[in-house]
Amino acid sequence: MPVASRKPSLAVRPFEESDYGPMVDYFLDSEPLVLTGMGIDTRKMLGREEWLRHLLMDHQKPDAQRDRFYLAWIRDDDLVGHSSINQIELGKEAHFHLHLWKADMRGAGVGAELVRLSAAFYIERFGFKRLVCEPYANNPAPNRVLPKAGFRFVKRYRTVPTTLSFEQDVNRFELDADDCTGSTLSVDHSIMPTSS
Ligand SMILES: CC(C)(COP(=O)(O)OP(=O)(O)OC[C@H]1O[C@@H](n2cnc3c(N)ncnc32)[C@H](O)[C@@H]1OP(=O)(O)O)[C@@H](O)C(=O)NCCC(=O)NCCS
Repeated sequence: MPVASRKPSLAVRPFEESDYGPMVDYFLDSEPLVLTGMGIDTRKMLGREEWLRHLLMDHQKPDAQRDRFYLAWIRDDDLVGHSSINQIELGKEAHFHLHLWKADMRGAGVGAELVRLSAAFYIERFGFKRLVCEPYANNPAPNRVLPKAGFRFVKRYRTVPTTLSFEQDVNRFELDADDCTGSTLSVDHSIMPTSS
């Protein structure tokens, strides 16, 4: 009897309040060495309750006033990761972040597709002209996946990229809105909000 193979269905949607707990647990349950490999200074991480309190307060704010906006990464109805944007300048640009929580899912092309879907979502919702992503230069996966998802390398420089980071060399990548049209076609609009 033939066995049908099925491509996993991938989608993105804005975070609901219940999504923040699993995200905080993803960071707090990761080994310190893994976090360091992403450029995170573990001493700067908050405890679970305090971190969640900050996140849920930010969640209530209008887009223009938010520190971060989060998208859930959904694979076959399961929450498997997230992307986020900060340094949000409506109509102009924001900084993009990416995390596939399940290590055994990485390296199979899932991240590239979810980055494409996320980028299309952010550009459509916030009217960005571009997205910027500045991964730690010594973290291979994001540096490989971003060009696969259409971002172009701009430069390498030394900075403290987020409030959780140590000083590090980052590679700056940018995705122009004009280069994101193909991805928009594959965004699942049925799960997109009707208003901002
Ligand atoms: C970054 C991330 C979202 C990418 O998702 P993914 O599903 O692994 O992405 P893809 O499989 O589409 O592509 C990953 C690419 O990185 C490569 N890669 C992954 N780990 C690597 C490693 N340790 N060394 C070299 N290349 C590596 C893969 O081979 C693949 O490239 P290829 O297709 O040219 O072979 C995911 O790996 C992740 O969440 N990593 C941990 C969190 C993280 O580091 N986030 C970035 C913080 S700035």
